[in-house]
Amino acid sequence: MSEPRPFIVAIDGPAGAGKSTVSKVLARRLGFSLVDTGAIYRCVALKARRAGIGFEDDVKLGELLERLNVSFQVVGEDNHVYLDGEDVSEEIRTPENSMAASRVSSRPVVRAGLLALQRRLALEASKGAILEGRDIGTVVFPDADAKYFLEANPEVRARRRYEELFQKGVERSLEDVLADQVKRDQDDASRAVAPLKPAEDAVRVDSSNLPLSEVVHRMEQEILEKMSRKQ
Ligand code: DC
Repeated sequence: MSEPRPFIVAIDGPAGAGKSTVSKVLARRLGFSLVDTGAIYRCVALKARRAGIGFEDDVKLGELLERLNVSFQVVGEDNHVYLDGEDVSEEIRTPENSMAASRVSSRPVVRAGLLALQRRLALEASKGAILEGRDIGTVVFPDADAKYFLEANPEVRARRRYEELFQKGVERSLEDVLADQVKRDQDDASRAVAPLKPAEDAVRVDSSNLPLSEVVHRMEQEILEKMSRKQ
């Protein structure tokens, strides 16, 4: 008999909706692995920038994907991201690389090339995996065991991102963070392939007026209930 599949949780939503924080805490509490799919797109963007590859150069992007080596490791409270063995956790999150990630993520060659990697990272988990991204519930795991779409109003999301950057010492005004976010949201939601949109069967959670700890608590209860029904 084949091994049962790990319990798959899909968490999608726009930038700054709280996906990273919620996913990290949930993964820790449930003992699940965490696959930050945005970080994978960010690594593709960083590798392309370093190699001077244009964000529309599908041939070179395709070759780059064949050599892509991304891994994750939880160190203390943080989920560190490694590109070809180098810790790039900070470098992939600069404003320039965020915009670059959004651009490469609109290329069908990149999306198709990353599908198998995202699925493999999740299926390697022993108990369960949380995948956070934009198209997990619609494309990567349409048959996920639990699906969420996290939202929050644009001002709340921009402020969260601003504070995150501020804590990392990145100088950027709140207005600039909001403008970048509006552009990235529009691009992510309007692209032809796998646009940002909730799966029909996703539970939508608006965290504009909810502390993220409350969001985690609700999701954890639901996931535990679903896990017990699946056994
Ligand atoms: O979640 P994030 O901000 O780290 O994602 C960076 C970019 O990657 C985002 O602008 C859109 C893209 N992305 C995507 O297209 N599909 C995913 N599953 C995850 C991220």
